[in-house]
Amino acid sequence: MKKTFLLALSLCGMITSSQAQTAAKPIPPATPQYRPVYHFSPAKMWMNDPNGMVYHNGTYHLFFQHYPDGMEWGPMHWGHATSKDLLSWQEQPIALYPDKLGWIFSGSAVIDANNTAGFGKNAMVAIFTHHNDPEEKKKTNKHQYQSLAYSLDEGKTWTKYPGNPVLPNPGIQDFRDPKVSWNEVAKKWVMTLATKDRITFYASPNLKDWTKLSEFGEKLGAHGGVWECPDLFPLTLNGQTHWVLLVSINPGGPNGGSATQYFIGQFDGKTFTPQTTTQKWVDWGKDNYAGITWANTGARKIFLGWMSNWEYANQVPTSPWRNAMTAPRDLALKQVGQEIYLTSMPAKEVAQLVQPSQSLKNFIVKSELSLTDKIPGLASQFQLQLSTKQLQDFAFVLGNAKGEELVIGYDKQANQYYIDRSKAGQMAFSSTFAGRHPAPRLANGSVADLTLLFDATSVEVFADGGLTTMTELFFPTQPYTTLKLKSTSGLTVDALSYAKLTPHVK
Ligand code: FRU
Repeated sequence: MKKTFLLALSLCGMITSSQAQTAAKPIPPATPQYRPVYHFSPAKMWMNDPNGMVYHNGTYHLFFQHYPDGMEWGPMHWGHATSKDLLSWQEQPIALYPDKLGWIFSGSAVIDANNTAGFGKNAMVAIFTHHNDPEEKKKTNKHQYQSLAYSLDEGKTWTKYPGNPVLPNPGIQDFRDPKVSWNEVAKKWVMTLATKDRITFYASPNLKDWTKLSEFGEKLGAHGGVWECPDLFPLTLNGQTHWVLLVSINPGGPNGGSATQYFIGQFDGKTFTPQTTTQKWVDWGKDNYAGITWANTGARKIFLGWMSNWEYANQVPTSPWRNAMTAPRDLALKQVGQEIYLTSMPAKEVAQLVQPSQSLKNFIVKSELSLTDKIPGLASQFQLQLSTKQLQDFAFVLGNAKGEELVIGYDKQANQYYIDRSKAGQMAFSSTFAGRHPAPRLANGSVADLTLLFDATSVEVFADGGLTTMTELFFPTQPYTTLKLKSTSGLTVDALSYAKLTPHVK
């Protein structure tokens, strides 16, 4: 069942959490060929947004929206996984279960180094949305509110704060997904909260008592859907600090369905002021949603998104799990003309996966070059990198004996990169899955570089140092076995490399 539908039903009081539980469908036959290797996916059952991402004592914690009793969205829990390198993940016992205040929706986690909340020095504190929709709540729109839980043993066991909720709902239908961080200017915790069609900022000295600071965005940015899962953090460019505000919206993304937009500006401890009103997207592909950054990583900002789209997340043909996360990405800023953009590149840890590569240097592709015979068998996990001083039309084409094709390329006339999965394999599970999806090239000049990361059923495109990124899924009915580089106009390639991506055995 589509999540929006389920949400609507539950908001209308037509379905309760126990009904949703019993509605869980039988598990389809297993699809081990679709299991990603270096992207996190739960061993089984449903997953959506990354939650509570926090780095602590050498370990990256990734919590996630999880329904452990079904492969479709249902009563939300926080699943938990840990990693030392952001690439190999160990799933841990479920961290947060629904309770009498509601299901556990998205949120964040912090390390309370100064014990401001009184739960203990260095307590891991989760700030999340309780979602509860019985009859009397839904009339007032007060069914979502913010609550706390804390862990004193590195996220293994959790205690819900008896004073929950800490931020009651003033009567806003969508009031959720708190991202909290310590703000040095305000000398307080600042919460960035999605409040229907805008972001509302709150501050607190102790994570328990919250005061409203300001609102942002009612008339700015994309509004094709509800605002969800925000994040606010500083990055520096040429010694100057700029604040980045991520806002996921669903629907209303540039290629349909879910996507994450962002704003760059200043945050003075109270108010966010954008530098310009240009519409910007973190990722132009269809499959990167609800992404936020890890807490407690200092100046380094590492992003991870949910690699799916609410248009078909409940139908993708994997089993016994549904959905995976994107690769971790290092965020930075880059100026192009008058605009500052956010760039995302594979996190530096991804380099550990890269095996010795096959490289071709200084050659011209006229019409078509088969790469299949130049590589020792096409892997399911691999990286392609291309650089050119004279960007022209080109397309990488992955194919199999059944004629299924995944195409990733650049269209010079439109000045767009694109992913075309119209013929990539399975697509009958959703009418909105197949298609050719473009992304504008934001870089100036003819010098271009491209990094593509493949893992079982996903490709992540990082063009021009991460100025334009695209993430998309594909489900071939047989593995792809051929790889071609095509260029109708002729492309002079400075360097092209293919490398298998293999995790180190730990
Ligand atoms: C985003 C979202 C959040 C919400 C969660 C519920 O995908 O809709 O706004 O907290 O999913 O699972």
